[in-house]
Amino acid sequence: MNQIRDLQELINTSISEINLNFKPTELYEPIIYSLSNGGKRLRPLLALVGCDLFNGKIEDALQLAIGMEIFHNFTLVHDDIMDNAPLRRGKETVYKKWDQNIAILSGDTMFALAYHHICSTKPDVLPMILEVFNQTAREVCEGQQYDMNFEGQKLISLKDYIEMIRLKTGVLLGCCLKAGALCGGASAESAQYLYEFGVNLGISFQIKDDYLDIFGNEEAFGKLNCGDIIARKKTFLYLKALEIAGIETRNEIIRVYNDLSISDNERVKLIKYYFIELGIKEVAELEMERFYSLGLEFLKKIEIPEEQFRLLLSISTSMMERSH
Ligand code: IPE
Ligand code: IPE
Ligand code: MG
Ligand code: MG
Ligand code: MG
Repeated sequence: MNQIRDLQELINTSISEINLNFKPTELYEPIIYSLSNGGKRLRPLLALVGCDLFNGKIEDALQLAIGMEIFHNFTLVHDDIMDNAPLRRGKETVYKKWDQNIAILSGDTMFALAYHHICSTKPDVLPMILEVFNQTAREVCEGQQYDMNFEGQKLISLKDYIEMIRLKTGVLLGCCLKAGALCGGASAESAQYLYEFGVNLGISFQIKDDYLDIFGNEEAFGKLNCGDIIARKKTFLYLKALEIAGIETRNEIIRVYNDLSISDNERVKLIKYYFIELGIKEVAELEMERFYSLGLEFLKKIEIPEEQFRLLLSISTSMMERSH
């Protein structure tokens, strides 16, 4: 049976071997920068584990796994422009280091590169994989658009928020698992159950991302601390705070969050104080566990020996417990 670190090594080697030695260098250097800055590389890992679950040959799923990681990095390059984020993986974001136009175009090129890798998957499963990938790519954009729409809207419900993060984050994790599984010979039904598990894992993963944005260690997390408050994002923490606060505190949070005359530092300080007072940390943890358990229900429907899930469960629990 494969080990996680062997799979990670395979992914790292394959990414480092991608030939990006093309011109103009202004276009390719940011791509090399983005792909060589590491990150957890969870999406390709999920794709390989999806394949392994059904005893497929890991090598068969390697290119689609790499394609998923390139796609993910493309979304981050564009996301950082949209979120005005200065820092990613402890380094300057692409649009800060170069400029916005370069980040847009390098990102577009990464999307094409992602297809290039995915399309080299064996022809018998490729149409099914392209179908889920195309759908996913569109949905990620839909989620990102909702994320931006919500910045300017006052009345966002937690239900709206969950749908937004299902789209921007959940579906890609589901897609990686499903594509890997299909490549490994899973039935359409099993692959779909695995997809649903991935989507719920992804929702939980994004709630943790919102949590770490506020309560994580900036150095470990590699992103600007409290960037979501500064950008006035409708995060899980913010929406939950509004839900459980009394009417006065609720109004005060809304006022502070949206008041343009309060400095970012002051706003961050006040909002963080309310989050802590309201016990949002604990509520976020419970909500993450709830979605993770919902996901596990789908795994139970897949008819393979429990022992086969060992790798997937160890990766997903480490995703839940992560600090970066
Ligand atoms: C960041 O994803 C974007 C989200 C969907 C939360 P990761 O936390 O997987 O980022 P890297 O690739 O490890 O840097
Ligand atoms: C990003 O969500 C989701 C996608 C890139 C599709 P965030 O904006 O919260 O991700 P980070 O925190 O910048 O990594
Ligand atoms: Mg962002
Ligand atoms: Mg964003
Ligand atoms: Mg975030």
